[in-house]
Amino acid sequence: MENILTQAKDAREAQLQELIELLRIPSISTLPDHRPQIAEAAQWLAAHMKALGLEEVEVYPTERHPVVYGQWLGAPGQPTVLIYGHYDVQPADPLEQWQSDPFEPQVRGDYLYARGAADDKGQLFVHLKAIEAYLKSTKCLPVNVKLLLEGEEEIGSTSLPQFIAEHQELLQADIVLISDSHILAPDQPSIVYGLRGMTYVELQVQGPDHDLHSGSYGGAVHNPLGALATMIAKLHDEKGRVAIPGFYDRVRPLSESERAELARLPYDEAAFCREAGISATWGDPDYTALERLGARPTLDVNGLLGGFTGAGAKTIIPAQAMAKISMRLVPDQEPHEIAQLFESYIKQITPLTVQSQVRAIHFAEPALLRRDIPAMQAARQAYRAGFGTEPLFTREGGSIPVVTLFKKQLGLDSILMGFGLPDDRLHSPNERFYLPNFYRGIRSSIYFLQALTEEG
Ligand code: BES
Ligand code: ZN
Repeated sequence: MENILTQAKDAREAQLQELIELLRIPSISTLPDHRPQIAEAAQWLAAHMKALGLEEVEVYPTERHPVVYGQWLGAPGQPTVLIYGHYDVQPADPLEQWQSDPFEPQVRGDYLYARGAADDKGQLFVHLKAIEAYLKSTKCLPVNVKLLLEGEEEIGSTSLPQFIAEHQELLQADIVLISDSHILAPDQPSIVYGLRGMTYVELQVQGPDHDLHSGSYGGAVHNPLGALATMIAKLHDEKGRVAIPGFYDRVRPLSESERAELARLPYDEAAFCREAGISATWGDPDYTALERLGARPTLDVNGLLGGFTGAGAKTIIPAQAMAKISMRLVPDQEPHEIAQLFESYIKQITPLTVQSQVRAIHFAEPALLRRDIPAMQAARQAYRAGFGTEPLFTREGGSIPVVTLFKKQLGLDSILMGFGLPDDRLHSPNERFYLPNFYRGIRSSIYFLQALTEEG
């Protein structure tokens, strides 16, 4: 073990430089004109995995973005861990708010700044570097390892169900390991046991069939932007609860013991407000902010489009208005059913003077993970050894669609061992990764693979 940890420690400069190389590739999955960069990132990873000594490394095309796969199966009789990560990233805009170029990674203090630094290139790289340390120093791994890296996580993993269905045999494993979340604080590791699901929709409101002069028509024609604003205002009640009838029907109530457990977590609401840049939290007063973030569903408007937004003034009644709306779901809400409930409510609240249309974009199921399985103990052991602190258990508000796909399609449980921090600014300008935890992550991953063995 000492040799392997030393091997990893001595390679720190190279580990950082290689990660920087990967981060330079702007693999933005949602933008169609970034297809070549997505392909480039997939090829880069495949070449890197081959160089590490992984076998059967292949870039599998899918309907949209490729899946990169590789394996090392030289530990007969030992368990097999399927390590998942995603090499796609979110768009970098608003660009002017970045202190350095999002795709020209920069180290400032203890942080590495770049789009994808924490979400998820930096975190998937942790495991590649742990594998490298083993293979370089001992030419073998303590367990069998399969790696699956996808390029569509940020857009809902829509090609993965088919990929998994077509590669059931290839993906057989005992447990899934995912590092795509964060821990509570730099020195306080945490294991995520709950993730929210997602129903993402686009709501279009159509008014007149072309833009109209607001003088000649204003007062007699319903403005679709105004209509959309009225409709959006009806999506929540005055307490901040989602107002869609039936929305909460399947929400599993929080047990008293879970509430007590969440209340014991070292959560600092003032720090949360400071980090988010808000003066106070918002939402259903019947739940604490932490409960609302992890264990309660939401509805959010992600963006609005319509009318004239250029410099100066233009006097029109626009023909259309559009809203992008996401709903974060918790067990046992069903993403498709939620889309239907949303659509019927929209029908009900659409004024007769305009037309509305709802289009679903993607879905992800919420997940609650088992904490009583041996691999969870291995994760605890690994965090203890890697960070010197016993991990806590948390529920997260984000979504990782593949978690329920692995469970439903392959019967596999996942372990969510994140190495990011709550203030990594995921999906925002100045995304970053706290480098001390990149290296502690590599140590923890080394310990995790060891702890998974029969002996461990
Ligand atoms: N890494 C995040 C998920 C995450 C964020 C987990 C914070 C835990 C804490 C992931 O890459 C992500 O952003 N997923 C999307 C999925 C969606 C498009 C279905 C999300 O949550 O918005
Ligand atoms: Zn991610």
